Amino acid sequence: MSPRALITGGAGFIGSHIADALLDRGFHVVVLDDLSTGRRENVPVGAEFVQADVRSADAARLVREGGFDVVLHEAAQIDVRKSVIDPVHDASINILGALNLLEAVRAAARRPRFIFASTGGAIYGDFVTPPNVEEFAKDPDSPYGIAKLAVEHYLAYYGRVHGIEGAVLRYANVYGPRQDPHGEAGVVAIFCNRLLDGAPLTVFGDGGQTRDYVHVKDVAAANAAAATAVLPAAARLDARAMNIGTGIETDVITLAETLRRVSGRSSAIEFAPARPGEQRRSAVSTAKGQQLLGWTPQRSLESGLKDTFEYFAAPRG
Ligand SMILES: NC(=O)c1ccc[n+]([C@@H]2O[C@H](COP(=O)([O-])OP(=O)(O)OC[C@H]3O[C@@H](n4cnc5c(N)ncnc54)[C@H](O)[C@@H]3O)[C@@H](O)[C@H]2O)c1
Repeated sequence: MSPRALITGGAGFIGSHIADALLDRGFHVVVLDDLSTGRRENVPVGAEFVQADVRSADAARLVREGGFDVVLHEAAQIDVRKSVIDPVHDASINILGALNLLEAVRAAARRPRFIFASTGGAIYGDFVTPPNVEEFAKDPDSPYGIAKLAVEHYLAYYGRVHGIEGAVLRYANVYGPRQDPHGEAGVVAIFCNRLLDGAPLTVFGDGGQTRDYVHVKDVAAANAAAATAVLPAAARLDARAMNIGTGIETDVITLAETLRRVSGRSSAIEFAPARPGEQRRSAVSTAKGQQLLGWTPQRSLESGLKDTFEYFAAPRG
């Protein structure tokens, strides 16, 4: 019988690519999503779809009674700035939603593995020098990052105290087809749309701020590996946490210039005042993901940006 996977947020950007990857590997895939930002048409043919909120009793019942081997929890309020404006709303989805599912895992007759989508950007803050290693201090500078860290703590606790098999994937800045301009690598989607409109690419500050851009298909492959990999024993916070990125820092100017080159478009680059509180440097070490999952990112920034631009340029109904 095929292994069964539940992907929360599977109608969104990353979750829908995980659904593709797991279907390719012979999983039976169920997607749970409230469609607040996700789109029904992102859910691949072959996956079952359930429309529900992760905070609901319906979602808990599905986790408890669905007979899943693995739950990949991608559903979230993903907008860092929204989390600053309304931290209560952010915590309601990002902490209480996850807790609702974790309690359902605890109550399930057959307990699925729980893989949690955390962040390798927002969680470490600005006090560390990249590339960030999993054991680095965590000082998130936003309610969004705090909520991710809180769920990681819950997951470590559920592992130690209740024996739940959990893994944390701390994504760097994920970009690719179907991405949402409000996410942590939203700049790629924004620049693609500006290039298509012939509008200038706006760079905030001096454009020297760096991020670690990882292609969504590489992130999906890491999730597929985590679904079945042998995990280390549950211990402290970072024991079962892995960064998922490339280890390469790219500054915004280089990103804009590379996108211009691969797109063949010629928008100008314009400068706007720096945004207060914006992180200066970010990139993650990928050694642990390689070691535990046998995973390495396969796509170069250049080829990944080309594929992303082509997606945004293609006509859609
Ligand atoms: N995109 C990035 O660069 C990045 C980086 C680090 C971590 N992450 C994390 O990866 C995960 C996926 O992010 P994404 O970029 O694909 O975002 P996304 O917005 O495309 O996907 C999130 C999905 O969750 C759904 N959702 C939101 N609230 C829900 C709720 N209460 N109940 C059920 N479904 C709900 C949305 O409809 C959407 O389909 C998130 O947990 C995010 O925090 C993303």
